[in-house]
Amino acid sequence: MSEHMLLAFDDEAPLAQALAYALDVPLGWVRCHRFPDGELRLRLPDNLPPRVLLLRGLQQPNEKLVELLLCAPAARELGANEIVLLSPYLAYMRQDMAFTPGEVVSQRHVAALLGGLFDAVLTVDPHLHRVRSMEALFPGRRGVALSAAPLLGQWVAQQLGEPVLIGPDEEAAQWVSVAAQERGLTHGVGRKRRLGDHEVVLELPPLALQGRAVVLLDDVASTGQTLIAAAQQALARGAASVDVAVTHALFVGDALQRLHEAGVRHVWSTDAVPHASNAVSVAPLLAQAVRELWGCE
Ligand code: R5P
Repeated sequence: MSEHMLLAFDDEAPLAQALAYALDVPLGWVRCHRFPDGELRLRLPDNLPPRVLLLRGLQQPNEKLVELLLCAPAARELGANEIVLLSPYLAYMRQDMAFTPGEVVSQRHVAALLGGLFDAVLTVDPHLHRVRSMEALFPGRRGVALSAAPLLGQWVAQQLGEPVLIGPDEEAAQWVSVAAQERGLTHGVGRKRRLGDHEVVLELPPLALQGRAVVLLDDVASTGQTLIAAAQQALARGAASVDVAVTHALFVGDALQRLHEAGVRHVWSTDAVPHASNAVSVAPLLAQAVRELWGCE
């Protein structure tokens, strides 16, 4: 019997299968039944090896956090003695301080919950801003933050040659500069102020955009409002085209449609979150990081 197993849920099957193949480990499924009153019944393979990797992205996170709360101790009861959570999208990272008195700092409490359940947590482009590292987020645990920015940088250069890369706000600087570095692309970041869930005020950097192919690059698109505001400005400043590349395609409601209506041509994302716009796979990146964590290099 293998020493390792990847456990996954069927709504993340493509990434799970690619990862199991890349790692050459058996893939077990967490079967999930939802009772009429909303409670969950989960079933894991009943004989787990000592080292388990649980793939669960935390897009639409609330119910998935309960799944993790149930799965981790159950996996230990069924034989696992080391459980790594691979959560390509780590939710609740943006609320990293009390912006108004009394506001719950979700980042801290979700991290404490996950750190109590898992021996290590791996993710891709987490929204770390005031807390800068996974080590700081998961004290006493192994926390690994991978970045899809180099992959997105390569992808847009392959598609467009030499586009101008723009991050819509200062927080995107970390991803844009890395993505641009791949091919020495012109890049910059804008300034953003969020007024509400669906309202942002944004100013793009003073780069020459007239006649240029512009790619807006960010870690996550949720309502799409940030990218819509940025696209409108880039087009108003004469950009020949505006495309979008994001690591995490949350795109709630009709966000994708509104983005195209605002003049965005292509929307490319990684498969860190399953979505119709997925164009770049993070499976090789994840597999490499898991091998290193398991010491299987
Ligand atoms: C926050 O600063 C993030 O990097 C994104 O820019 C933001 O979460 C996108 O949210 P939305 O799509 O709702 O504007």
